[in-house]
Amino acid sequence: MAYLLVLSAVACVLLYYGLSTYQRLKHNISCAKSSGLPYVVTPVHVFGMGWLATYYLWIPFLKKLPASVKGLWLEIMDPEWAHRLGHEPFEKIDSDVFLVVSPSKIAAFVADAEVVAQITTRRNDFPKPLELYTRLDLYGKNLVSSEGADWRMHRKLTAPSFGERNNELVFTETLHHTTSLLRLWTGTEKMESRTLNDPGTDTMSWALYIISGAGFDIRVTWPHEEGKHEEGKHEEGKHEADKADRADSVFKGSQPPPGHTMNYREALSELLHNIMWTFMGPPSVLSKSPFKVHRTVAKALLEWGDYMEEILQLKKTQVSAGQDAHGMDLFRALIRNSGILDASQTSIQESDLLGNAFVLMLAGHETTANTLHYSLIFLAMRWSSQKKLQDEIDEVIQGRPIEEWKYEEIFQKLFNGMPAAVMNETLRVLTPVINIPKSTAPGRPQQFTMDGQQYTMPGETQISLSCAIHKNPKYWPAPPGEEVVNGIPDTQRFRPERWLNQSATTEAFTDIAYDDEELRGPSGEDTSSNLFRPVRGSYIPFSDGFRSCIGRRFAQVELLTAFAVIFTQYSVELAADEWASEEQLEKMSENERKEIWQKAVDRTLLLLRTKTSSIITLQLRGHTIPIRLVKRGGEKLKFDY
Ligand code: HEM
Ligand SMILES: *[C@@H]1O[C@H](CO)[C@@H](O)[C@H](O)[C@H]1NC(C)=O
Ligand SMILES: *[C@@H]1O[C@H](CO)[C@@H](O)[C@H](O)[C@H]1NC(C)=O
Repeated sequence: MAYLLVLSAVACVLLYYGLSTYQRLKHNISCAKSSGLPYVVTPVHVFGMGWLATYYLWIPFLKKLPASVKGLWLEIMDPEWAHRLGHEPFEKIDSDVFLVVSPSKIAAFVADAEVVAQITTRRNDFPKPLELYTRLDLYGKNLVSSEGADWRMHRKLTAPSFGERNNELVFTETLHHTTSLLRLWTGTEKMESRTLNDPGTDTMSWALYIISGAGFDIRVTWPHEEGKHEEGKHEEGKHEADKADRADSVFKGSQPPPGHTMNYREALSELLHNIMWTFMGPPSVLSKSPFKVHRTVAKALLEWGDYMEEILQLKKTQVSAGQDAHGMDLFRALIRNSGILDASQTSIQESDLLGNAFVLMLAGHETTANTLHYSLIFLAMRWSSQKKLQDEIDEVIQGRPIEEWKYEEIFQKLFNGMPAAVMNETLRVLTPVINIPKSTAPGRPQQFTMDGQQYTMPGETQISLSCAIHKNPKYWPAPPGEEVVNGIPDTQRFRPERWLNQSATTEAFTDIAYDDEELRGPSGEDTSSNLFRPVRGSYIPFSDGFRSCIGRRFAQVELLTAFAVIFTQYSVELAADEWASEEQLEKMSENERKEIWQKAVDRTLLLLRTKTSSIITLQLRGHTIPIRLVKRGGEKLKFDY
């Protein structure tokens, strides 16, 4: 009897659950119908936590379904589809905006520039879905995870740190750390060429150390340079007075300073490289986990917080003593702007400083590291572009030693030509943030226009500004007759020259009008006056509008400076070690080499398409693409894919 009761109770619950799911789905479908947009129905929300954590288990089974039930819905159940399939799903459904309806949520995907521009400029109508960002509040609220008045406060606090003076510091730090990176890669001075098995990990350290230096005034020493005499001549002398006060005197080296159990470098990389585990629980829980990686990341979380706390105290002392004439760093500027030295103004708390310091590190390192990494890979597949890049860099640098490079003179020149084109094209083809999240509030549907027609974005929709817009042929036309070359559509091909096409210049790129100039952030126009300017809203690697990336110029300075340091001395090739040794390659005919090179290209393209995925940004996971660093003049694989 009891058994029967339980059974019928379970049946009731299931029935209720089934019915309410069905009701919700019906409701969502009718919302979708009244939007005027095409829609696809999926059984679960593509970005639901449960699905994100387990989709790779289900998808292989779903793919075995009979062809008659499979379709677009299944393709877009892969959370990474925007990168893997590009613009194709939009073409199939024949609209650059479409909805995906599940019982729990309506999602929208946008690959139309006009619509992107409306969403990014109407920030009150299309706020960021903050529930997706709370995981970033490890040390406190910050400008990435806030909206409205809070966001304004955080943005005002951080924006002044991104002015031209700081860009100069980014330039200096990048020269230093790229030189170190090359020393790591070349090993002995005499090498002619060397295979780098895991360049992605190295560029990650590179970006971390630069932001540590430019952001927080900590000059991290690379493990391979420990104990060696510092050679960064260009700063010595220049900032001599500042030198003694540099925070790094405490944070250098592999010996943890008193009070710490991890050195700064370790705390930083452990924390940021294993960040996903911190989303599972607070350090007090993680530190009791049976898994070592959890315990390590818990320790790193606490350690890095302690380091930041110490730097904050040090900077406070420096700022109140008026010692700010030399190096300008984000933290100092953060303190000065926060007014926490001034007791009368108490609205800003220390956790606001730490919270922002943390997200700047997080937002600033992986994106830039990946972009350098992928640029090297793409250039290795396209010798003609690499050669053009080297020629233009040579023209700017004129053979001068690195110590004589000046930011004001060099950056603008690099930004006006091929180096910027390579950066822009890498960010177009392999966009680090594949879906920029926006939303509509519950009960607040929003009207928008596309191609002269009105549509309604339903309330409580999770909107993704899709990186597929970067492959939309509407905005990225191929030269006539070259729509598909060697089986690769032009929109998917890395072809930096497309950015140098002067006849394709579109209307001037107008930046948004902030109601308050203090919110703007990066100084300097983001335009190279006479080069290709994409249609407003069609090129969004840094997002756009009010919530666009505050570190855009920071990243541009880093990347272009790194290109200059690397390509004045070296070339990159895909490593072919697997198929032929250097000696064998040497003896081969041009055709034989090309065959080998083609194998490396095929593998690279496959890995880039299938083995990259996002945790925060798009990254190659569980695989590496080895590349070969070659002294200029010694290249053996000069081909274009
Ligand atoms: C190639 C490098 C980079 C790319 C592709 C990139 C991309 C982006 C994107 C797409 C957004 C919008 C995110 C969203 O709406 O959820 C964003 C915001 C942001 N980025 Fe970057 N970023 C890069 C480098 C940097 C650097 C170097 C820093 C800091 C040093 C930085 C700091 C930030 C911050 C603080 C925001 C939030 C701004 C706000 O909401 O007001 N980024 N970035
Ligand atoms: C340059 O742009 C023009 C105008 O859009 C186009 O007709 C031409 O094919 C482009 N050339 C190249 C090499 O992309
Ligand atoms: C790179 O893209 C930006 C738009 O974000 C544009 O202003 C700039 O001119 C582009 N650079 C080149 C070399 O075309």
